[in-house]
Amino acid sequence: MLSQSGYYCDDDLAMGVFLAIKLGKPLFLEGEPGVGKTEMAKVLASSLGRRLIRLQCYEGLDVSTAVYEWNYAKQLLSLKLAGEAGAGPEHLEDVFGPEYLLSRPLLEAIRSESQGQRVVLLIDELDRADEEFEAFLLELLSDFQVTIPEMGTVASPTIPLVVLTSNRTREIHDAIKRRCLYHWIDYPSLEKELQIVQAKVPGIDQRLAQEICQLMRRLRQDDYLKRPGVAESLDWAQALVLLHRDHLDVDIVRQTKSCLFKNRQDLRRFQDGIARYIGGAFEE
Ligand SMILES: Nc1ncnc2c1ncn2[C@@H]1O[C@H](COP(=O)(O)OP(=O)(O)OP(=O)(O)O)[C@@H](O)[C@H]1O
Ligand SMILES: [Mg+2]
Repeated sequence: MLSQSGYYCDDDLAMGVFLAIKLGKPLFLEGEPGVGKTEMAKVLASSLGRRLIRLQCYEGLDVSTAVYEWNYAKQLLSLKLAGEAGAGPEHLEDVFGPEYLLSRPLLEAIRSESQGQRVVLLIDELDRADEEFEAFLLELLSDFQVTIPEMGTVASPTIPLVVLTSNRTREIHDAIKRRCLYHWIDYPSLEKELQIVQAKVPGIDQRLAQEICQLMRRLRQDDYLKRPGVAESLDWAQALVLLHRDHLDVDIVRQTKSCLFKNRQDLRRFQDGIARYIGGAFEE
């Protein structure tokens, strides 16, 4: 199912996904940048025919951005209109009812499921959120319900398929991981990356694709500050196809290095070693 949707991975990740769906457990994905963590959730949603709801984490993320918020402007307006019309307290509308509630991704996922619309909930880059948010999430992941003090509890008979990702800028608490199936996504093997490049960059020359993937493997073995991921391989492949290339040479590699590295030190290091990479990369 995954490869039909253009996602190529090893058997063990595919098994993790299968078990997460069947056991109703969240899937926790960690790995280097650009190895397909976010893409997994997108592909799962599209291939299962479910809606994707995404919560992008960042420092300072709080309940009003992640779960729900009251629509203050609408509440005030309603009270003002009622006051102007001289309505007594018994005629005042309940401004803490569902129509005054703004659902944010987590509540939206529970509400959708409770209305029979299955979803994939992506909680992306959890390592960027604060630890207090993690504690809140822990509760949510265990019973998939949210209590809104003014309104009551919103629960769902079915649970969303949850994908959590982290780039490991900090360690995620064990309590969260224990509730999930965990998978570390490594850089793909040469064969897998070749499949990805050929699927995502149609019309690419076979030799060029092979040379790109071999060189990417070499680069990842070296000591760069930010090693290029699959995203960079795809950018580079697209750029070289645009330039009508069917193989790599020192000049074109040098001219297109902006697709591979995004900081000064790495660019310089790469530039100094280009001849070495091109000299040896294709004889493996
Ligand atoms: N296994 C794969 N199969 C198909 N495409 C892939 C795969 N892995 C990565 N890609 C492609 O690489 C690109 C980057 O993937 P994605 O954004 O999911 O990485 P990420 O792990 O979430 O990175 P980051 O940590 O930077 O958020 C996407 O365009 C995606 O299509
Ligand atoms: Mg991502």
